[in-house]
Amino acid sequence: MDRFTLIGLAYVVAVAFFVLGLKQQSSPATARRGNRISAAGMLVAVVATLWSEQIISLQWIVLAVLAGSLTGALAARKVAMTGMPEMVALFNGSGGMASLLVAWAALYGGSSTPEPISVFVALTAVLSIVIGGVTVSGSLIAWGKLSELLPGRALVFGLQRAFNGALLLAILVSGVLFILNPSVDSVYLGLIIGLSLLLGVMAVIPIGGADMPVVISLLNSYSGLAACAAGFAVRNDILIVAGMLVGAAGLILTNIMCKAMNRSLAHVLFSGFGAVKTASKAEGEVKPATTEDAFLILEAASSITFVPGYGMAVAQAQHVVRELGELLEAGGREVNYAIHPVAGRMPGHMNVLLAEANVPYEQLVEMEDINPRMSMVDVAVIIGANDVVNPAAREDEASPIYGMPIINVDYARTVFVLKRSMASGFAGVDNPLFFADNTRMLFGDAKASISAVIDEFKGT
Ligand code: TAP
Repeated sequence: MDRFTLIGLAYVVAVAFFVLGLKQQSSPATARRGNRISAAGMLVAVVATLWSEQIISLQWIVLAVLAGSLTGALAARKVAMTGMPEMVALFNGSGGMASLLVAWAALYGGSSTPEPISVFVALTAVLSIVIGGVTVSGSLIAWGKLSELLPGRALVFGLQRAFNGALLLAILVSGVLFILNPSVDSVYLGLIIGLSLLLGVMAVIPIGGADMPVVISLLNSYSGLAACAAGFAVRNDILIVAGMLVGAAGLILTNIMCKAMNRSLAHVLFSGFGAVKTASKAEGEVKPATTEDAFLILEAASSITFVPGYGMAVAQAQHVVRELGELLEAGGREVNYAIHPVAGRMPGHMNVLLAEANVPYEQLVEMEDINPRMSMVDVAVIIGANDVVNPAAREDEASPIYGMPIINVDYARTVFVLKRSMASGFAGVDNPLFFADNTRMLFGDAKASISAVIDEFKGT
């Protein structure tokens, strides 16, 4: 078998690994295996590509794989679960940057003497540079917002859309002028790169608050599309396929998240979430509870629904929550966990945490399934969730989160809210749930509060 047949076969194996890996990542039970399979596919693809082009020797391939794996492993080990979205934003940015550089390099051709650039290479390279450029700078802004280095709210100013429209037009015109006369020294190439980077910044600054998850998954999709275009520019099949898979997966996720927030993508991108706060102020009497109160009410209940949110991730309370759940179940009570699709800070955040704590999958209930049964639930225990249980999303038309589907915990007979203060959640809006007649606030760190309730049950 010659070298090219072997490389073709390696690509088929890599694609099969990618598809299988993606399939397995769709369920928490098989996600880890899916991740490993995809990573193995990527290793095959990288080694086969470098070998096919005879770019570098085996020592360099091994060295690069080791350096990349070490950086990735260290970053993954070091990052706190709550810092994952920021890390994903940086990964998206790196993907966009890599595609931009590959496409730029493709314009130089394979040899040391400059060759004429074909229209096809010029067109696909421009596409990759534009999408990659928007992805790099957009992801850096998203990272800054999520890590609170930049203001998290939407930054809007007059004529913003007109300015962005003009930017897009300038990129289009520069792109056409470049493709008509492609050269690595073209002034239009520099313009395309600079304007694309600026567009990424301008496109993400007007997005803020609860819309950020959608932006992250959209940028993820862009990084895939940029890679796909770069794949055409350098005529590499595996890059085209891998880019398409990432692009499509990112778009599907974006769509799921938009649906979970009941917003169209256009609304997310152009409405400037939370730029103007008009929501009604939530006021009323707060009824604090003690852990003993919580114990007595839970002991008398026959059905309990836990609703986890971002605060459970912060407190790392998932293990004690599972322990309390088991204690309640052992006393003959029905226990389940209601999961909102955007609870936490990344897609599937709550599923991952609860799976880590070995909560049985059959006890996890989707929002659509729990809501019709909520009025039959004796006690809803909210563990560090806020926006995803805010009735203002259902009732207050002036609220920035109005229309976002929520878990209707206020329909339960009694509601316990576990959080440290009266502070608002990610979207920065007041929550009238805290003042409802059937709500009791259990102030404190969620892990400490749950542990104290467990102690009450154990009589210690
Ligand atoms: P949030 O609305 O952000 O509320 C989290 C609550 O947890 C806060 O009100 C905070 O109150 C409490 N908390 C923090 N640390 C705690 C601790 N140690 N112990 C107890 N409570 C603690 O969370 P959510 O309800 O899960 O909603 C998620 C929000 O994030 C949505 O707006 C969503 O759009 C957005 N978002 C989601 C994603 C994805 S994809 N899931 C990504 C980015 C953003 P205290 O400070 O008073 O304790």
